[in-house]
Parts: sequence; C-alpha cells; structure tokens
Amino acid sequence: MASLMKCRRRLWQVRLALTGLVFAMSASGQTEPIDAGPYVPTPTVIVAEMLKLAEIKANDVVIDLGSGDGRLVIAAAKQFGARGWGVDYQESLVKLANDNAQKEGVGERTKFIHGDLFKASLKDANVITLYLMPATVVKLVPKFLEELRPGTRIVSHDYPLAPWQHERVANFDFEEKVKISGTARTVLYRYIIPAKIDGDWVVNLPQAITRGPGRFSFKRDPALKVRGAAVIGGRSIALDDIEVRGEAFSARLQELKPGGERIAFRGVIAGEVITGTAEIAGKLSPWSATLRQ
Ligand SMILES: C[S@@+](CC[C@H](N)C(=O)[O-])C[C@H]1O[C@@H](n2cnc3c(N)ncnc32)[C@H](O)[C@@H]1O
Repeated sequence: MASLMKCRRRLWQVRLALTGLVFAMSASGQTEPIDAGPYVPTPTVIVAEMLKLAEIKANDVVIDLGSGDGRLVIAAAKQFGARGWGVDYQESLVKLANDNAQKEGVGERTKFIHGDLFKASLKDANVITLYLMPATVVKLVPKFLEELRPGTRIVSHDYPLAPWQHERVANFDFEEKVKISGTARTVLYRYIIPAKIDGDWVVNLPQAITRGPGRFSFKRDPALKVRGAAVIGGRSIALDDIEVRGEAFSARLQELKPGGERIAFRGVIAGEVITGTAEIAGKLSPWSATLRQ
C-alpha cells in the first residue's frame, strides 16, 4: 500500500514536471499573454466558500487559473488533501506560491508554473477555480468545453461564464471585499462540464413504447441548455426537461397517445453510448442510445 502511494506521488510529480516543460516550451517565441486581470488575492473567507462550493475531495486535481500567491490550490491541498497546480504569468507570484506551498507542507502535492493561462492544458483537472476579469472568463468557455472531462466543477469568483447558465450560485456580503470592489457583495458561480450530447442518436426503446428503433436528436443553445426531439414509429414527439449534469442524463418524452403518461428517461452518457432506464406507468425498463456517425 505504502509503495503504491509512493508510486502515485512520483507519477504525479513527473506529470507536473512535464506540464512545466510544456509551458516553458510554449512560452518561448510566442505572443504576449492577454492580461486576464491584475493581482488581487481572493480574501481567505471567500477561498473557503469557493472550495466548499466546489465540493473538493481528496482525489481531486484542482487548477487555479491565474494563481497569484497560490492560496486556492494550497488551501485545497491542506484542508481537503487534494492535489493541484496553478499558473500565473508573473514570475514573482509563481515563486511566492511555490514557497508558500512548501511553508504550508503541501509542496509535494502542489505546483505553480510560470505561463499563460490560456495555453495551459487542463486535461487533468476535476476542479477549476477562477478570479479573473469578466471578459476573460467568458473567453475561456470554449476551452473548458473542449478540454475538461464531464463532471469537472468550475467555480468563478464574482463573474459568470456567460452565456452558459450556471448550475449553482452563492451570494454573500463580505466586508473584506469593500476595499477590492467597493461593495461587500460577492457572488460565486458553479458550473459542471456536461458530457457531449449534440447530434442524432439511434435509440433502443422498451417494447411498451415501440418495437423498432427510434431517434433522439439533441442540440445545445448558446446557454448550453439542451433542446431535443424524438422520432418514434415515424412520428415526431417532443422531448422535454432535458438535463445533462456531468454524465447523468434525464428527459421526459411527451405522451405517445392522448391521455397517456409522459415517460421519464434516465441514463449515463459514456462517450457515444447512453444506457439507462425509462419509467412507464411506474415500471422501469432498460433503454439505450448510440450516437449516429
Ligand atoms: C485577481 S488575481 C487572482 C489570484 C488568485 N487566483 C486568487 O484568487 O487569489 C488574477 C491573477 O491572474 C494572473 N494573470 C492575468 N492574466 C494572466 C495570463 N494571461 N496568464 C496567467 N496568469 C494571468 C495575474 O497575474 C493575477 O495573479
């Protein structure tokens, strides 16, 4: 067990070293990074609320984009046993963050890297934290949707990732914010990366619905809300209340016949396959769907 833990720690250190190398390579000969915001550290009370909202667990990898003195990643490692790294383009802050991590005894589980946050590879994250300018957080949305795995939580301090509709919001009044933004008002927004669902799916439905395959079609609107429709037995039928939370899927199919019940679908999206159960008149039956190429 101890040697397994040692091996995992070593692997993590090698991955962090490689991340640093990639940054160093991409930093050379590239254009100036976009200024995503000046250095304004998140007050400690708000750091605690951000980590609470992110529901950090010991096996999470937390990335703070524009990491300043490292306080978010260091607190996640110290208080929850998580691992993590941060990136900042101010070299002095990167040094300060790495020194702080050593002082707090979490130097082995954290790392701060000098680089441009827009070029950082985010693939290993389970949690992203942000305290950046409103115009910047908006620009990061396509990168998040492209690189982050379904279920990854994002917590943004004060600025929403518009037009993406947040999954949860927490409002506070903190005196510590008055000298930063002129008001005590503090808003934390939480988002969860959804599994990819856009496209046409061939659906195997319970026999109580139909014998042949059906088709579900999904498309996200700019707020990332999923719209959908079904074709069953040659008839177009509306799919409502579609929710994709990480890999979890749910929707309701409108009544197939007048006076019939709506059918509640639940499932798990695993890449190009969805499997789950459909509830028809209180009875659960399996269903599945495959993305059409
Ligand atoms: C408002 S501070 C937040 C610091 C820390 N995340 C916190 O909440 O305490 C924003 C940080 O982003 C950094 N930053 C701004 N633009 C950046 C960029 N393009 N790449 C990397 N860091 C950047 C700044 O140097 C600054 O430290």
